[in-house]
Amino acid sequence: MILVTGGAGFIGSNFVIDWLASNDEPVINLDKLTYAGNPDNFSSLDGDPRHHFVKGDICDRELLNQLMAQHKPRAIVHFAAESHVDRSIHGPGDFIKTNVDGTFSLLEAARAHCAGLSDTERAAFRFLHVSTDEVFGTLNPGDPPFSETTPYAPNSPYSASKAASDHLVRAWHHTYGMAVLTSNCSNNYGPLQFPEKLVPLIIANALAGKPLPIYGDGQQVRDWLYVGDHCSAIRRILTDGQPGETYNIGGWNEKANIDVVHTLCDLLDELSPAKQSYREQITYVKDRPGHDRRYAIDARKTERELGWRPTETFETGMRKTVQWYLANQEWVRKVQSGDYLKWIDRNYSQRARGAA
Ligand code: NAD
Ligand code: DAU
Repeated sequence: MILVTGGAGFIGSNFVIDWLASNDEPVINLDKLTYAGNPDNFSSLDGDPRHHFVKGDICDRELLNQLMAQHKPRAIVHFAAESHVDRSIHGPGDFIKTNVDGTFSLLEAARAHCAGLSDTERAAFRFLHVSTDEVFGTLNPGDPPFSETTPYAPNSPYSASKAASDHLVRAWHHTYGMAVLTSNCSNNYGPLQFPEKLVPLIIANALAGKPLPIYGDGQQVRDWLYVGDHCSAIRRILTDGQPGETYNIGGWNEKANIDVVHTLCDLLDELSPAKQSYREQITYVKDRPGHDRRYAIDARKTERELGWRPTETFETGMRKTVQWYLANQEWVRKVQSGDYLKWIDRNYSQRARGAA
């Protein structure tokens, strides 16, 4: 079986569902259930004996040792993290705890586990660390996209904590010979994303008749990848990736934020029309401090060596996503609880309108 961390979050839950749809190998799903973790995300697996959920913290070495001894996973796929840049600016402490200390604990538990394996089992074991393109910093308009050899230059507490975790993973390979794989992926969107991130926040606010907040001038560029394509890339890397290597994953979809929001408004105008276009709700607000201007990913190594390419285009993926949120408004309503409302107030109340 495999151990997945963070499998109650956005990408992790999509990964667990996709994994069990394409494969019978059981999953131990370890998740602390922070504000971002939601057991409703895998309610479709209720009663499925291949899915074992464990509520727990990746910083808890005793729990990790116990899980390793009990289940002897042949691989670890590590998603668990604090993942929201704005929250890292308001409070970086949890990012250091989970992303750095937590990854360290998991690596140490994996190292102890590997020591007890036979040579054949150890050679087959994999530790796949799911990371981000944000570790590479920011690009100017004409710069080439990030490749696997781009030097690290993280700019936010979130990306610095992910960069630190990537370095730990790399060191555990070079020093201890652990069979690690690291993936660096661009912005994901799709079903089950917590509505603090741009895409689900815009959809939820639009339908609620609320302002659609655009940071700064809205010209920051991100590369967008449908979450199902990220999951298929991770499965491919786990199967065929070379231990010690890193792999970039991206959608070949560079878009300015304002264009993403226009696309979402236009899809909503078509699929759930209101009295006026949702574009009327767009509101420019104060920028994110240290806001990275542009990310772009060169995923040719992953395509060349592993034969992976995304299957969704920006248009098909965004349409599926809007359709999912329209069909699952109860899921959104449930996660918009007290804590969520406090966060929205904290992040947006001090951002004056018209700051573009
Ligand atoms: P998310 O915030 O939706 O989910 C994170 C999950 O980790 C939650 O279920 C949370 O409860 C769990 N978690 C947090 N701290 C934990 C701890 N100490 N112990 C156990 N579980 C804990 O994040 P996501 O968007 O699904 O991202 C998953 C991973 O992918 C992260 O490592 C992130 O850095 C990386 N990533 C995300 C994106 C993206 O666009 N969302 C892109 C590239 C890489
Ligand atoms: O690039 C990969 C990263 O993508 C992941 O590592 C992170 O975990 C993930 O959260 C995401 O980071 P971003 O900061 O790019 O995502 P976010 O959805 O927060 O913001 C996307 C862009 O939209 C960014 O330029 C900020 C902007 N934005 C965001 C929000 C929430 C707005 O203009 N208004 C908003 O209200």
